[in-house]
Amino acid sequence: MTYRELVNNASERLEKNGNNPQDAIFLLLELSNKESYDLYLNYDEEVNEDIRNLFEELLNRLLLHEPLQYILGYENFYGYRFIVNENVLIPRDETQELVSNVLADIDSYFSSPTVIDVGCGSGIIGLTLKKEEPSINVILSDISSDAINVAKQNAENLNVEADFLIGDMLEPFIEKNIKADIIVSNPPYIKQSEVLEKSVVNYEPNIALFGGEDGLMFYRQIFDKAHLILNEKFMMAFEIGYDQKTALMNLSKQYFPNCEIEVLKDINNKDRMLFIYKLN
Ligand SMILES: C[S@@+](CC[C@H](N)C(=O)[O-])C[C@H]1O[C@@H](n2cnc3c(N)ncnc32)[C@H](O)[C@@H]1O
Repeated sequence: MTYRELVNNASERLEKNGNNPQDAIFLLLELSNKESYDLYLNYDEEVNEDIRNLFEELLNRLLLHEPLQYILGYENFYGYRFIVNENVLIPRDETQELVSNVLADIDSYFSSPTVIDVGCGSGIIGLTLKKEEPSINVILSDISSDAINVAKQNAENLNVEADFLIGDMLEPFIEKNIKADIIVSNPPYIKQSEVLEKSVVNYEPNIALFGGEDGLMFYRQIFDKAHLILNEKFMMAFEIGYDQKTALMNLSKQYFPNCEIEVLKDINNKDRMLFIYKLN
């Protein structure tokens, strides 16, 4: 069987099954260790049997709706390759925009701040911030020790110096009397009742997804305790659900009446980022 036949056949099976047919190419590029131009140049060559067998095995996992990123074991984020597995959320594009905005604010308002990434998962936010702005001091936390292990591996692979804590939201920082200038978090924010795609609900860790009945449970917990760890001048940056702007603006005003509060839209024109500033 040629590469072309293998891809055409797999794409058709994926499409019929409600998957993304393009995943056939991604899988084959990975297994054949080829760049896409190289694959297309050799499209009518025979595929060796080992690759064919492995391809079929991984294709069957895709057909069960396992996300491609867990099958490959990585996802790219902000130009860096992060290990991912079933213990961590797969990085989403929106989160890159949160990171960009935080980097711009660090440039404008802080010098060598201490930044904490609460609910770090694979570590994409905190580790990318440190990679892009090495002068910051970064501490990443998660309630899942399995997630922290993944984040530590990513720190090592990316050669990033960072500290890690395991615990419930801000508790480990409070216990250790850590003071921070910036809190950044993409907490679980999906409403308990929301119906999700099979590939998300069956494979991604539930602990990374759901934020209680109204989805806002973790924002409340952070808002409630933030004063115990934040320095006088501070900022907080959160990813939020596209429909949570009004509720979170109200909640933020209630907890932080003297702060500047802003919600930004993402590239798809959805309200996706909440910023709370106290800069003097
Ligand atoms: C939406 S995921 C975000 C992961 C990563 N920051 C990202 O943007 O891809 C939320 C993370 O919060 C963690 N988490 C859930 N409940 C937590 C809690 N009570 N305290 C700390 N972390 C928690 C989950 O394990 C998960 O890694």
